[in-house]
Amino acid sequence: MADSIQVHAVRVDSVQRDAGRRGGARRDAGAASADAAPALRVEGLGKRVALPDEELTILDGVGFEIARGDTVAIVGASGSGKSTLLSLMAGLDTPSSGSVALDGEPLSALDEDGRARVRGAKVGFVFQSFQLLPSLTALENVMLPLELRGDREVEGPAKAILDKVGLGQRLGHYPRQLSGGEQQRVALARAFVTRPSLLFADEPTGNLDTHTGQAIIELLFELNADAGTTLVLVTHDEHLAQRCGRMLRLDSGRLVP
Ligand SMILES: Nc1ncnc2c1ncn2[C@@H]1O[C@H](COP(=O)(O)OP(=O)(O)OP(=O)(O)O)[C@@H](O)[C@H]1O
Ligand SMILES: [Mg+2]
Repeated sequence: MADSIQVHAVRVDSVQRDAGRRGGARRDAGAASADAAPALRVEGLGKRVALPDEELTILDGVGFEIARGDTVAIVGASGSGKSTLLSLMAGLDTPSSGSVALDGEPLSALDEDGRARVRGAKVGFVFQSFQLLPSLTALENVMLPLELRGDREVEGPAKAILDKVGLGQRLGHYPRQLSGGEQQRVALARAFVTRPSLLFADEPTGNLDTHTGQAIIELLFELNADAGTTLVLVTHDEHLAQRCGRMLRLDSGRLVP
């Protein structure tokens, strides 16, 4: 429990830290090698953590490439390493071995500031546990990434996307006043609003009823079709996995061939 609170705190903190670094940096991230490279290249990725009595291997020798505009589902049993892999791909966590490159830019060679710059420029991330900022309303949570990158028009686009996820009547509510599924939709709206080139979403339909889940799936694929956004989704939802162009399956931290 203590661990999960700590992980939560670190991740919220990293969202806030990214905030301070985003302004002005978004255009130049990865510009040099951007055109020829795949959206994502993962090589020999390993994650090990030290436990009191042993070392736990969470990911072991994971490697693949994802082309731009691809839609990829990451599937596997609970505890197989899906969320860990997603965090490493987005540069929110650092691997024990191997490397991740986004648009040809190797994250492993960057420090925390550099990774934050790349994230701010290209990445939208929907956490399994949402990670909304509790002191901001739904609307303010969604406006934040636009404010951070210095957009002038922030309220209109944020309202429009909240409307799209069915929360047009909940703009002034704080996360604690929203249900789990509503918080999940705010988190999706916050990740979409910048129209990122890469969107990572951890169980994006996990807390939603079938109807709302289907609407969110349509929205994800609309973003893929309209903006060419590369989608990398962790999901237990067969229907969502089937919609994706590719499926990567993890079993105890290894990619199933
Ligand atoms: N910081 C950590 N310290 C110790 N163990 C960890 C840590 N982070 C993850 N783990 C362990 O690594 C394994 C993979 O965790 P991860 O969260 O990536 O699984 P997952 O595939 O996303 O599971 P779920 O479907 O339940 O969300 C789990 O057994 C988890 O307990
Ligand atoms: Mg998970």
